[in-house]
This record gives sequence, structure tokens and C-alpha cells, in this order.
Amino acid sequence: MKHFNRAATFALISLLYPAVTLADEIGKAEYMNTCATCHGEGAAGDGPLAELMTVPVPPLTGLSAANDGAFPMLEVIQTIDGRSGTRGHGYPMPIWGARFRSEISDADSAGINYGTETIVRARMLSLALYLESIQQ
Ligand code: HEC
Repeated sequence: MKHFNRAATFALISLLYPAVTLADEIGKAEYMNTCATCHGEGAAGDGPLAELMTVPVPPLTGLSAANDGAFPMLEVIQTIDGRSGTRGHGYPMPIWGARFRSEISDADSAGINYGTETIVRARMLSLALYLESIQQ
């Protein structure tokens, strides 16, 4: 039984490990394309657009530290998404959920479908997983 558990755990880890690595890589590429302009390549809040913003662009490497050491996954996803309206009007962070969706809808004028929303959420989750991986 003990051996079975160890083998099962090992199998599970080998199955999951590449997926996690892949998610981080996808999230990293997405981050560099979409977020680094403001938040900076090292997420220190010092991207080239940051000085043009009327509000300070926050660093993204201390999100866990500011939350008692636990990465605030849901909050981060909702912040990136921006469609849930959890922030007030005038929130300067772009609403990526809507932008990711319209990019796909533009490419596929078949319009709204669950597949589109799944891709939008996967992009946001990849970003959040990448951010989790760079917490200090
Ligand atoms: C146009 C500049 C700009 C871009 C591009 C941008 N952000 Fe932001 N982001 C901001 C600003 C400004 C804030 C702070 C706004 C506030 O807190 O009211 C912020 C806040 C955040 C926060 C909350 C940080 C905290 O301390 O609570 C997260 C998480 C975040 N951004 C992630 C991202 C991700 C991921 C991307 C790429 C998909 C991205 N941002 C792209 C400007 C930007």
C-alpha cells in the first residue's frame, strides 16, 4: 500500500510537473508581451510606460508578502480580468478580460462561445501562475 502510494504520487507529480512548467512559460511570454510595458520586465513597477502614467504602477513581486505570505490568486485573477467590477471607476489598470476576449472575437467572427471564454480565462490563469512564481 505504501509503495502504491509512493508510485501514485510520483506518477501524479510527473504528470503535473510539465504542465506547471508550461503554464509558467506561457504566462511569462504573455507577461512580457502584455504587462511589462507598465510593470517592468522584472515586475518592479518600472516599465517604460510607468513614468507616463498619472498613477504609480505597483511592483508585482510582493503580492504574497502583502497577503501574509499567501499568493492572493483569486484577487490577482480578478484584477487582471477587470470585468467583475470589483474596482471602482477610473481604475487605471487595463481591463484585460475584455481585451483578450475581443482579440479572439476579432479573429473568429463566429462570435461569443464558451471556447472563447475558456481561452480568455486560460490566459489570465497563466499570467497569475507566472506572477505566483516570481513572488519574493
Ligand atoms: C497601462 C499600464 C498597465 C499595464 C499594461 C498593466 N498594468 Fe497592472 N496595473 C497598472 C496600474 C496603474 C495598477 C495600479 C492600479 C490600482 O491599484 O488602482 C496596476 C495594478 C495591477 C495589479 C494589482 C497590484 C496590487 O498591488 O494589488 C496586478 C496584479 C496587475 N496590475 C497585473 C497586471 C498584469 C498581469 C498585466 C498584464 C496582463 C498588467 N497588470 C498590465 C497598470 C498597468
